[in-house]
Amino acid sequence: MKKVLNVVVTLCVLLAFLGGAQAAPKPDDAVHYRQGVLMALGWNIGPMGAMVQGKVPFDKERFAFLADRVAQLAPMVAEGFDVSTKDAKSEARPELWENLPDFQKRMSDLASASQKLAIVASEGDKAAMKRQFGVTVKMCKGCHDEYRVKH
Ligand code: HEC
Repeated sequence: MKKVLNVVVTLCVLLAFLGGAQAAPKPDDAVHYRQGVLMALGWNIGPMGAMVQGKVPFDKERFAFLADRVAQLAPMVAEGFDVSTKDAKSEARPELWENLPDFQKRMSDLASASQKLAIVASEGDKAAMKRQFGVTVKMCKGCHDEYRVKH
């Protein structure tokens, strides 16, 4: 009985903690979250780009593995761009908050393109993989040109 009670108490504490974190994410945490996911996207896109450009041998299996990761990561980014982060320190340009629907559409387009990339990659047609990779990275660049601080 005591054991059960302990489990229940632990669960309640855990849920309270998770619930609290969900209700009011700190703006800086949201920025770190989105930058982390974007970094992970870049981490996985990079070696695919090297294959597409012929800098390293094209490995279809590795490409498909990386494409799967990208397809999982891409839909995770948008929630980090909450309006509460508007004044937090980041590389998001102020225009982003004035054009939030356009920004969000670009994010959901990226998610769809990445999903398609993973499907194409699983089918193993190298030319199609290259083509869909091109479509996908164009979206990265297009959005960075508009909404990311230039370096
Ligand atoms: C809809 C807009 C948009 C799309 C699409 C997009 N990005 Fe970005 N990206 C941004 C913005 C805005 C920032 C700056 C974020 C910040 O500093 O909080 C950024 C930052 C980054 C960063 C730097 C993260 C860091 O550590 O500060 C990387 C890496 C990155 N993006 C990679 C990618 C890759 C790879 C893709 C395509 C697969 C992509 N992005 C698609 C808007 C976008």
